[in-house]
Order: sequence, then structure tokens, then C-alpha cells
Amino acid sequence: MKTSLIDFMDKAISLETCFSECYEMMIQLGEGQGIAKDLRTLSYQEINHANILKTGKNFVLAEPDLFDQVTPTETEMDSGIGLTENLLRKIRGRVIEFNTAIGELYELEKLFERVHMDVAVTIKEPSLEALFKNLSKKDAEHKRILEHLMQMSMPG
Ligand SMILES: [Fe+2]
Repeated sequence: MKTSLIDFMDKAISLETCFSECYEMMIQLGEGQGIAKDLRTLSYQEINHANILKTGKNFVLAEPDLFDQVTPTETEMDSGIGLTENLLRKIRGRVIEFNTAIGELYELEKLFERVHMDVAVTIKEPSLEALFKNLSKKDAEHKRILEHLMQMSMPG
């Protein structure tokens, strides 16, 4: 059980890192649209999510009994990583339109919001739980920026 929790967290860290790279690479794809700052913020926030998960992993390794995994499954994680890596390749290779890419990122983000430390893992110790909830507070802002970018890049 705990082994699978650590496995899950490693996968969640990979996924968040891949999201971060996508946003970073989107800056070049969307050149001239004045959106570099928003994309950099999104990229940084994903690094932050990965770092929170890394911190969480250290706690799990130290005190495994305080944690339980809720969602998602390993299969979901593998498919999420596959889809995100595939999208990253298309963004890198500039074989995808900016609008299409931002739409796909939005969908993937919605699917994988559940990998964030505060929702993916049950923390049985209240003060530790509060700590991770607090670290994840910025997620509402993350979503707003992404929705704003989607509206800006909507055709017509
Ligand atoms: Fe994230």
C-alpha cells in the first residue's frame, strides 16, 4: 500500500513537471500574444505543485502511517503522463496551434487536479493536513490564469 503511494507520488511529480515544461514551451508557440508572463506564472506554479509533492513524499517516507492514497489509479496516472508528454512533444515541435494546445492543457489540468498533494493523499494528522492545504491555496489563481488565457486565444 505504501509502496503504491510512493509510486503514485513519483508519477504525480513527473506529471506536474511535464505540465510545467508545457507552459514554458508555450511561450514560444504564442509569441507576440503578450502572454509570456501568464505562462511563466503557470509554469512556476506547476513546479511548485511538484515541490509540494516532493515534500509530501519525504513525510510519507518518514511517517508512512499518517498517510493514505485516495485517487487516482496507477493506470490513470500512466495515461495522464503519456498524454501530457505527447502534448509537450507537439508544442516543442511546433506542430500544434497555440489555441489547440491551451485547450488540451486545460482539459488535462481538469482531469489531473486530483494529483495535487492536498486532494490525492489522505493525511491523518490534522496539523500536517493543514500545512498541505495551505501550500495548495494558490490553485484557484492557477485556474483563473488558465481560463483567462483560453478566452484570449479563442478564435474570432
Ligand atoms: Fe498542478
